Amino acid sequence: MTMQAMIDEWYPVGLLSQLQPGGRKTALMGAPIEVACDAEGHARVTAADGRVLPVRARYGHVWSSLGAPQKELFPIPEADQPGRRFVDVGVVRVRCSPLRTVENFLDIAHFPFVHTDILGAEPHTEVQNYKVEIREDVDEVWATQVKFYQPQASKSASGGITTEYMYRVPAPTCSVLYKTCPPRPDEWDVITLFVQPLSEDLCDVWPWMALFDDETSMTDLIHFQQTIFLQDRSILENQIPRRLPLDPGMEIPTRADLTSIAYRRWLKRHDYTYGAQLVAQ
Ligand SMILES: [Fe+2]
Repeated sequence: MTMQAMIDEWYPVGLLSQLQPGGRKTALMGAPIEVACDAEGHARVTAADGRVLPVRARYGHVWSSLGAPQKELFPIPEADQPGRRFVDVGVVRVRCSPLRTVENFLDIAHFPFVHTDILGAEPHTEVQNYKVEIREDVDEVWATQVKFYQPQASKSASGGITTEYMYRVPAPTCSVLYKTCPPRPDEWDVITLFVQPLSEDLCDVWPWMALFDDETSMTDLIHFQQTIFLQDRSILENQIPRRLPLDPGMEIPTRADLTSIAYRRWLKRHDYTYGAQLVAQ
């Protein structure tokens, strides 16, 4: 199985705000790496054999790659927009495939059952029609016009509202979510899921946010998002098989899984198979 396509991608490997001169040991796709800061304070990532790996410092995180990335790290224009608050949520380690973590992030049908009374509630369990496409010009998966009733859409929401979502998958283990911004109806809140593949069935998840919210304390913003991801973790760690099946028919899709189908198709098309299960075993 060729892994080169995913080896040549960018991955988050730590928080920029937590760089240490002494370095921090972690892993990328099974290879031990070390993330440190040099004498000028810039991030430096090295492989076990001393090889210096490519580095980017963006969106609160250090990004690196074991290979030679063919593309620049994907853009998030909102990261440069004045007035937003940027939130480093921290890390959640999840014992499952990095691809499964992204797929779960794209799934709205689980909201009422997993994030009960926060991101969803019975009887509002129906997923309305929405649009899914692979945008060829940017080579990204997009889901738009996703609407859902949420009792507590965010810390800045007061009471239940119908929230609109857009999802983007710009890289195999990253997703960007655009979500109704309660205090600023003309803008979108941005919530990202950056996943670091430690191995094919273990990952570190680094959520990051760019919000319009001047009221909520940083601690409360982080706590809200961590609560959500810890709820997801217990679901993710019980999924079987642990790796993401990419062959049609291995798991039965429903309408709510339109985004998941497009995501799996896009992964397969690009040979993004690290963390995938290709044939029934
Ligand atoms: Fe979830």
